[in-house]
Amino acid sequence: MKKLSLTFAIIFVLTSIVRADEGMWIPALLQKNEAEMQAMGMKITADDIYSINHSSMKDAVVLFGGGCTGEIVSEQGLLLTNHHCGYDWIQKHSTIEHDYLTEGFWAMTMEEELACPGLKATMLRNMVDVTDKVLENITEETSDEERAEIIKKHIKSIIEEAQKDTEYKVSVESFYIGNQYFLMYNEVFDDIRMVGAPPSNIGKFGGDTDNWVWPRHTGDFSIFRIYKDGKPYKPDYHFTISLKGVEKDDFTFVFGYPARTNEYLPAVAVNQEANVIYPVVVDLRTQILDIYNKYQEQDPKVRIQYASKHAGLGNGWKKWMGVIEGIRNFKGIEKKQAFEETFINWCQETRARMRYMHALRDFDAVYAEYEKYRMATTYFTEAGLSIELIEFAANMAKLSEVTKDTPQEEIDKLISELKAVSAAFFKDYYQPIDEEVALTMLEDYRAAQPEDFRPEILNEIDKKFKGDVKAYVDFLFGKTMFTSEEKVNKLLDGFKPSKVKKLEKDPAVVAANSMMDFYVENVMAKAKECNTKINNLRRVYMEGQMKMIPEVFPEKRLYPDANFTLRVTYGKVGGFKPKDAVEYRHYTTLDGIMQKENPNIYDYVVTDRLRELYNAKDYGRYADKDGSMHVAFIAGNHTTGGNSGSPILNAEGQLLGLNFDRTWEGTMSDLVYDPSICKNISVDIRYVLFLIDKYAGCTRLIDEMTIAE
Ligand code: ARG
Ligand code: ASP
Repeated sequence: MKKLSLTFAIIFVLTSIVRADEGMWIPALLQKNEAEMQAMGMKITADDIYSINHSSMKDAVVLFGGGCTGEIVSEQGLLLTNHHCGYDWIQKHSTIEHDYLTEGFWAMTMEEELACPGLKATMLRNMVDVTDKVLENITEETSDEERAEIIKKHIKSIIEEAQKDTEYKVSVESFYIGNQYFLMYNEVFDDIRMVGAPPSNIGKFGGDTDNWVWPRHTGDFSIFRIYKDGKPYKPDYHFTISLKGVEKDDFTFVFGYPARTNEYLPAVAVNQEANVIYPVVVDLRTQILDIYNKYQEQDPKVRIQYASKHAGLGNGWKKWMGVIEGIRNFKGIEKKQAFEETFINWCQETRARMRYMHALRDFDAVYAEYEKYRMATTYFTEAGLSIELIEFAANMAKLSEVTKDTPQEEIDKLISELKAVSAAFFKDYYQPIDEEVALTMLEDYRAAQPEDFRPEILNEIDKKFKGDVKAYVDFLFGKTMFTSEEKVNKLLDGFKPSKVKKLEKDPAVVAANSMMDFYVENVMAKAKECNTKINNLRRVYMEGQMKMIPEVFPEKRLYPDANFTLRVTYGKVGGFKPKDAVEYRHYTTLDGIMQKENPNIYDYVVTDRLRELYNAKDYGRYADKDGSMHVAFIAGNHTTGGNSGSPILNAEGQLLGLNFDRTWEGTMSDLVYDPSICKNISVDIRYVLFLIDKYAGCTRLIDEMTIAE
C-alpha cells in the first residue's frame, strides 16, 4: 500500500512537473534551453538573444522605470512599453488644456518629445556567476547569522572590486533563494522622453472591468525615446517588427523583467497565502470597492477622483480572487503535498539529506507563528490604512517630531512636503466615501483580531463608545481637523512647535498613532523574525529541491524565481478552455471593440476616429490576412508582474507585440504553474502600428522602425 501511494505520488507530481511552457530563464544560461526552443520552432540561437561578445537582443530590452519592461525599436532609441506603464508620465504631462490621458499625445517632431525627469531605463550589459566568491568559507556548519554576515561582507567587496573597472552600475543579485549569485552590470539611462500615447479609451480600453480577463481589447502601449548626452540614443541592437501576426501553435518568447514569483514554496505557505491571507484581503477590498463604486456611479467628479485609487486596489483584488480559485481548481496544495511526500522519501535515503527534510518539516511551526503577524499586518495595512483620513493623519503626525530645537530650515522643508501631500489628498478626497470605509473597516478589524492583537484605539471603542463603531466614526470625523483643507492650511502656514500638543490630540492623529505604534512595537519585529527564519528554511529546502528534482524528475529543469532580473520565457500561441463547455480563441479583433462599445460606460467608449477607420476597413498593411484588424493574442509564456511592456517575439526574434497581462484563470502562476490555463496576453504590434500610423498620423515614427512585411 505504501509503495502504491508513493508511485501514485510520483505520477501525480510528474504530470504536473513536465511542462514545456513553464520557466523564466536566466539569459546568460540560455544555451541550456536552446535545443528545446529550436525543437519548438525557434529559428535563431541562444547567442542571438544574449551575448556579451557581440550585439544581441538583450541590448534592446530595458527595465522601464521601477517595474515594467520596454524595448528599443529603432536606431534612434525609440522605446515601446505599455500604456499602463507610461500612465504616470502621461498623467504628469497632462493639464486641462492638454489632457493627454483623454486625448492621447503624439510628438510630431523630435523637438516635441517631452522630458520625464526622474524616469530611468536600465539595460543589462553583462552578468557573471559569482556564487563561489559569495559563498566562500560557508559550510553546512555555519550558523544562519554568521552566514548572513559573511555574505554581506563578500558582496560588498565584490561590488567594490567590480565597480573600479566599469562605468556601469554593478550589483549582486541572489537567485534560488541564496543558492546562486550573479554580479550584474547595468547601464542606466536617465534622459527618457515621452513620444506618444493613445487616448485612454484605447490604451486602457475595458478599464478595470476587463483587467486580467480574456478576451481582451486593450491597445496597451505608449512610446518613449532614450536620449544619451542630449541626443537620441544609438542602440547596439533594435528589434525588427513583424507584420505577419501569429497563428495557433507558433513559437513565441518573451524577454523582460519579471518581478517576483514563489514557485518553490512548501504547501503550508501556499495554503496560508491562498486560503488564509488572500481571502481576507479580497473581502476587505470588496467592501471598499463596493463603496467606491456606489459613489463613483453617482457623481462624475467622484468617478475621476477615485479612478486611480480604484485601479490600484482593484488590480490586486481581482488577481488574488483568480489565484484563490486557480489554486483550488488546479489542486495546487494537493500537488505540493504530493511533491513533498516524494521529497521526504528521497531525503530519507541518505543521512546527508536529512537536513532538507528537517527544513521542510520546520516550516509548519514557523508558518503557524507567522500567521498571527501576517494577519495583523494585513489588517493594519488593508483595513487601517485604507481609511484615507488615518493615512493622511499618519503623514501629518510627522510634525509632532518638531521641537523648539529643530532648525527652521528643516521645519520649512517638512512643511512644504506636507503641503504637497495635503494638496494631493484634498484634490481627490470625498469624505462620505471615507466615512463609510472607516465604519466597515474598523468593524471588521475589531471583530477579526483578538484583543491582544488590536491597536489600543479599537479597544477604546469598547471602553468609551460601548462598542458602537458608528458612534466612534461620527466622533472621529466630527472632531478631526484633517477633513478641512482650510484648517490644515492654517496649521501648516503658521506652524510652530507649540502647536504639536494640539496636533497630537486630534482624534485622527490619535487613531493613526495608535495603529502605527501597535504595528511597530508588537508586529513588525516579530514578523521580520519569522521572515528571517522562513528565508533560511527556504534556502535549505531550495537546495534540497535543486538536488532532488534532477535525480527524481530528470526531465524537469529548474529555474529561479523571478527577482526583478532579465529573463527569457517561451511558449506557443494558443487559446484555452477555462471551464466546462467554454473555449477561448487565441486572438481578438477590432470587431470585438465595436461589440463592447458603449458610450455610456466609461471603460467602453470608442472614439469617432476609430469607428471611422473601422467602418472604412482602412487597415492598410496592418490588416491580418483574414482582412480583419487583430488587437490582442494569448500564448503560453510564463510571465508575471513587471513583464508588462515586454517584447513578445517570433521564431526569428521579430517583434509580434507587447505583453501586458495574464488571463484571470491562470493568475495563480506566481505560486503554481499550469500550462493549460496560464496564458500571457499581448497587444498585437500591427494594432499598435495601425494606431500610430492611421489613427494618429505619426508616420515619422513608422519611418524610423525596421518593419518586415
Ligand atoms: N493586470 C495588469 C497588471 O497587473 C494590468 C494593470 C493595468 N490595467 C488596469 N486596467 N488596471 O499590471
Ligand atoms: N500586468 C502586469 C504588469 O504590469 C503583468 C502581469 O502581471 O502579468 O507587469
